[in-house]
Amino acid sequence: PLRAVIFDLDGVIADTAVVHRSAWEKLAQEIDAPFDEVLAERMKGVDRRGSLEILLERAPRAYTEAEKDELGERKNRYYREQIGSFGPGNLLPGARHAVEATRNAGLRVGLASASRNAPLLLERLGIADLFDYIVDASTIERSKPDPEIFLAAAAGLGVAPAACLGVEDAAAGIASIRAAGMVAVGVGHREALGEADVVLPGLTAFRIGEFVEDQDRATAE
Ligand code: G6P
Ligand code: MG
Repeated sequence: PLRAVIFDLDGVIADTAVVHRSAWEKLAQEIDAPFDEVLAERMKGVDRRGSLEILLERAPRAYTEAEKDELGERKNRYYREQIGSFGPGNLLPGARHAVEATRNAGLRVGLASASRNAPLLLERLGIADLFDYIVDASTIERSKPDPEIFLAAAAGLGVAPAACLGVEDAAAGIASIRAAGMVAVGVGHREALGEADVVLPGLTAFRIGEFVEDQDRATAE
């Protein structure tokens, strides 16, 4: 049976996917690197350095490791400037309710975000206490689409991966969930979430009861 739900943060719970995107776009303009939809979609869910490497694929020149550190820090400054004024109003519609409904159904709740800003953001959104386990992004070696982060969340919750459901807004995240052996729920548009088992337009459509029943049925078969 289903015992835990592991949520991604940016673009699933917090309205921050657009903030990450605009910070990267600003950096792209400064270094004359092309930036488009395809690139932005590929960067979603990928950690800071991994996202930077994607951006630099088509940059007009090569960068040293020290320069890359500076570029990553610069992007993070742009991002932090934006989330500095964030509060509970920056939760995505249905997010708080989806997490609370999951808890009320007796399931454990985890967070698998690649963002080093996740703890700060959770405090600002006022939902830090709703999670049983939050993966520390700085301990993860391999970025999504690798399953490491979702497996770490399951381990931290003390639940087998097969009894977990993962929720993501990025293709890299869906791939990570599937590779971890969990049911993958995508939030957003089907085209961008290829391998998702279920796609919802947003968390307002999240019904924990339906997922519990589906899993019970699958186990019985
Ligand atoms: C999340 C976002 C990505 C971001 C990554 C790292 O996964 O979806 O867009 O690049 O976190 O965030 P950070 O806050 O550590 O730079
Ligand atoms: Mg995300």
